[in-house]
Amino acid sequence: MKIEDANIVITGAGSGFGKAMSLYFSSKGAKVFAVDINKESLDQLTQEDPSILSFQCDITKNQLVEALIDEIFEKNSEANVLINNAGIMKNAPLVNLLKRPDSRHEVELWDQVIQVNLNAVFYMTRSFAAKMIRKRNKGLIVNISSIAAVGNIGQTAYSASKSAVEAMSRVWAKELGGFGIRSVSIAPGFMNTLGTHDALEEKMLANWIEKTPLRRTGEINEVVLAAQFAIENDFFNGETLKVNGGLVL
Ligand SMILES: NC(=O)c1ccc[n+]([C@@H]2O[C@H](COP(=O)([O-])OP(=O)(O)OC[C@H]3O[C@@H](n4cnc5c(N)ncnc54)[C@H](O)[C@@H]3O)[C@@H](O)[C@H]2O)c1
Repeated sequence: MKIEDANIVITGAGSGFGKAMSLYFSSKGAKVFAVDINKESLDQLTQEDPSILSFQCDITKNQLVEALIDEIFEKNSEANVLINNAGIMKNAPLVNLLKRPDSRHEVELWDQVIQVNLNAVFYMTRSFAAKMIRKRNKGLIVNISSIAAVGNIGQTAYSASKSAVEAMSRVWAKELGGFGIRSVSIAPGFMNTLGTHDALEEKMLANWIEKTPLRRTGEINEVVLAAQFAIENDFFNGETLKVNGGLVL
């Protein structure tokens, strides 16, 4: 698909990769529908590019997602790309003996990560794909995964959620391919984002950089380019595109 033919819904569009993808694809002629829970960041985005339409929505609430997808398709019945990008990164070992009185990974933390990183991806895609099929729109679903999908120490919930979205991509590639809808994942490694610097101590990040063959973190635009490849290459389907500088966990 050519970028100028893409009508792209991007979740988590207020910050990081989501914001960068929104601005880039819009500048290349795509119509962009930016979704985020954070109204302020959406306002900043649309100030930077008034041609982007923004939608405030907590995508962990299925009813809100259904209304959101209805509204987007009412505004543009040709919506044909969904980038499930919104996500939260939380770290916790399964058992932390230094944590008292309860050393176990908190159930609330598990629920929080699974709701945003996994359940919301399911809610968004089931509604979006159903509309696409009904409108006979061909296109694709992109799930933003992570290098942690293979299982990263201290990230039970995050790794589980990302591994699951990659599995869903493969399922959807098989189920939706016959309708001309592709489904892929992009798995960034350690990237130079606020989220990475918030989630990791600098010493730990330096350690990951040391282990990365290219000896650096990735840049946000390198994920944007991966998303561009996913959109443009019509035979890329069911696979995960890894953007990690060659690092293997
Ligand atoms: N930053 C990295 O280095 C990195 C590496 C690998 C994978 N990822 C993945 O890439 C994606 C984007 O990461 P980022 O660093 O750009 O994140 P970010 O924190 O900068 O942006 C995430 C956005 O999602 C929004 N969001 C959170 N919960 C939401 C909800 N319930 N409903 C709607 N919007 C919600 C936030 O408001 C925020 O604007 C995530 O899925 C993340 O797991 C990031």
